[in-house]
Amino acid sequence: MEAVVDFAKVLLGTLFFIVLNTLKNVLPNGILPRKSVQGKKVLITGAGSGIGRLMAVEFAKLGAELIIWDVSLDGANETKKQVEAAGGTGHVFHVDLSQYKEIHRVGKETKEAIGDVDILINNAGIVTGKKLFDCPDELMEKTMAVNTNALFYTAKNFLPSMLEKDSGHLVTIASMAGKTGCAGLVDYCASKHGAVGCHDSIAMEILAQRKYGVKTTLVCPFFINTGMFDGVVTKSPLLFPILEADYAVECIMEAILTNRPLLCMPKSAYTILALMGLLPLEAQVLLADFFGTNESMNDFKGRQTKVE
Ligand SMILES: NC(=O)c1ccc[n+]([C@@H]2O[C@H](COP(=O)([O-])OP(=O)(O)OC[C@H]3O[C@@H](n4cnc5c(N)ncnc54)[C@H](O)[C@@H]3O)[C@@H](O)[C@H]2O)c1
Ligand SMILES: *[C@@H]1O[C@H](CO)[C@@H](O)[C@H](O)[C@H]1NC(C)=O
Ligand SMILES: *[C@@H]1O[C@H](CO)[C@@H](O)[C@H](O)[C@H]1NC(C)=O
Repeated sequence: MEAVVDFAKVLLGTLFFIVLNTLKNVLPNGILPRKSVQGKKVLITGAGSGIGRLMAVEFAKLGAELIIWDVSLDGANETKKQVEAAGGTGHVFHVDLSQYKEIHRVGKETKEAIGDVDILINNAGIVTGKKLFDCPDELMEKTMAVNTNALFYTAKNFLPSMLEKDSGHLVTIASMAGKTGCAGLVDYCASKHGAVGCHDSIAMEILAQRKYGVKTTLVCPFFINTGMFDGVVTKSPLLFPILEADYAVECIMEAILTNRPLLCMPKSAYTILALMGLLPLEAQVLLADFFGTNESMNDFKGRQTKVE
């Protein structure tokens, strides 16, 4: 009898969270109350370009102190300039996230210079855009190191103080490539699946310790027009448009500031999530062909110029 009651409770809880999060997913931005990040220390990896830089500027406008981690000093310096122009403070640290020892070294340096981090945003990412047999081993290893493994080591450096205070936020910018496979993105999809698994497992470890004050947000966008995926096309612009960077960042800020555990973009991406567990591989291929994602990487060029 007790087991039945327990199971009923779990079922009710499950239903409650499904309804709650479905509501959050369909609500337009700006309705739910946002938390304050005034005076908070926000570390963004890969903030020297793209959505990392745009997020940095948004946080600066809200009074946060930015810690800018990037392998490109040019890009990081430019972000610091934009953060200051927005009325904020920024600290630049040069780091190569593909080297875990360097993450530990710069992590220590950061904590000594700035103190504990309140919000850690794992945003840096790279893509080769090469098919399995065309992709040099070194590049595949690097994709895994930057997009997946680095998440272990940034968390090891900055999560402990959050857990101690039972306050903070871990954000992972993964991708819809972390939820489905895609031709032409073998190493990238593997690394983003890794990022998703890493993020979700850390989130579970946080909750298992009952540290409800430490929030987590996993972000899974479809293509964004930052330059990282230059050349890719979408054959179904209505259902799967290439996202504008400004819009993507607006959604990410909303998700972080309202403590949402998961954000997928565009909204149609949630249907893929819901279907993935049900669709056999052959059916996934049928849909990929229909929506044109079987060829979306064909004209991939990627970033033509260095980040600056
Ligand atoms: N652009 C898209 O279509 C898209 C779609 C889904 C997910 N994402 C993810 O969003 C995140 C940001 O992408 P973006 O479009 O702004 O890309 P971007 O190329 O504009 O920015 C990535 C930043 O990461 C930095 N970086 C790369 N390797 C690094 C390393 N080894 N050490 C430190 N920094 C490093 C780069 O210097 C750059 O500043 C990435 O994780 C990406 O995978 C992007
Ligand atoms: C970035 O700024 C730092 C500090 O002002 C400076 O020492 C460095 O030379 C700059 N680097 C680049 C590549 O602009
Ligand atoms: C993608 O699917 C379309 C539609 O079925 C097909 O014409 C095309 O050849 C496919 N491309 C690849 C690379 O498989």
